[in-house]
Amino acid sequence: MTSSTPTALDSTFSHLQNPTFLQACLRQATDYTPLWMMRQAGRYLPEYRASRAKAGSFMGLATNRDYATEVTLQPLDRYPLDAAILFSDILTVPDAMGLGLSFALGEGPKFAHPVRDEAAVAQLEVPDMAKLQYVFDAVSSIRKALTQADGRGRVPLIGFSGSPWTLACYMVEGAGSDDYRLVKTMLYSRPDLMHRMLTVNADSVAAYLNAQIDAGAQAVMIFDSWGGVLADGAFQEFSMAYTARVLAQLKRVGPQGEVIPRIVFTKGGGLWLKDMATLDCDVLGLDWTVNLGAARALVGGLENGPGKALQGNIDPNVLFAPPAQIATEVARVLDSFGTPYQGSGTGPTHIFNLGHGISQHTPPEHVAALVDAVHSHSRQLRR
Ligand code: CP3
Repeated sequence: MTSSTPTALDSTFSHLQNPTFLQACLRQATDYTPLWMMRQAGRYLPEYRASRAKAGSFMGLATNRDYATEVTLQPLDRYPLDAAILFSDILTVPDAMGLGLSFALGEGPKFAHPVRDEAAVAQLEVPDMAKLQYVFDAVSSIRKALTQADGRGRVPLIGFSGSPWTLACYMVEGAGSDDYRLVKTMLYSRPDLMHRMLTVNADSVAAYLNAQIDAGAQAVMIFDSWGGVLADGAFQEFSMAYTARVLAQLKRVGPQGEVIPRIVFTKGGGLWLKDMATLDCDVLGLDWTVNLGAARALVGGLENGPGKALQGNIDPNVLFAPPAQIATEVARVLDSFGTPYQGSGTGPTHIFNLGHGISQHTPPEHVAALVDAVHSHSRQLRR
């Protein structure tokens, strides 16, 4: 077996220079706690703003493979992060369904054709994946750019999608929302329509993530950013059940037989961790409302038994404090998880991340302080 043809049995990840992220996803021991940040390629970086100005717009960046590659690598060139994430957006899928996505500068996303009645729901179909070819081209281009002179990848590349429910929120509301009035009106008055939309969304997301895996994504993450706005009971029925439908259709291995870890992040989902432990995924993402030690006890599993790796969960606003306070807060988050598993089998592991996306107002030097603190304190925890 050569280093360029890893197999499912190759759990040493010899095809990567830095496999710590994938190892932690699979609950294997690492020398330090790996980290990446949601929205790590974004407006807080001056080089990102310069690229966006050249491309003309956010979608100009996302639909051009060279720009998408350039901005994906920007945070990795500044900081020793342990994973790259595809530069794209969750709303590419409803756009491919024909809803007409636009991003006006300084405003959130908007759809020209929101889905608000029976006729619009009836018309929804799994989009032709050829309409999303620009995303898959970006994935292969980023993988190429991550490949080093020795033929190994610098760090793994994460692909992603929105959850069926989070996509439905934008599809019905037509934009972001404060109260989710329109989507919840449909959910409570016409659950049949909502179930049909979620079925189409789940099958679309599965096809989309499988095509990202074929193109070279080495892990996949489902962003259920609005799962936490649902009532107990409604979350299980309208969000989690459709995330499960996606997971049931996902490829377990990539084109070279390598395991593809799956991450599910429900913002505001801390109260449903026990339910989410039943999902067929490797990692659960947590926002800052959850104590990592308590989550570890509930779903982190035991040595050589089943369980979920945990990803998160520092409040992104910590990054506005001075570096010394950032280091203190980082230590608090790492200590709340406790010493991760250190044996040669599997056990509870932690991937450090923010509890949600990084703010565009974050000083870039503060990110350097965060990354430093995570790597150094997490090494100390293992002594
Ligand atoms: O994490 C990364 O670095 C990868 C890229 C990524 C983006 N969006 C780029 C982006 C990812 C993973 C997303 C996911 C996404 N997009 C989510 C789920 C995660 C979350 O934040 O809850 C959601 C809900 C969206 C929808 C979306 N896209 C909104 C609401 C907005 C506007 C809000 C804002 O921050 O302005 C976007 C635009 C967007 N997506 C930007 C970026 C870097 C900013 C666009 C710009 O450059 O002007």
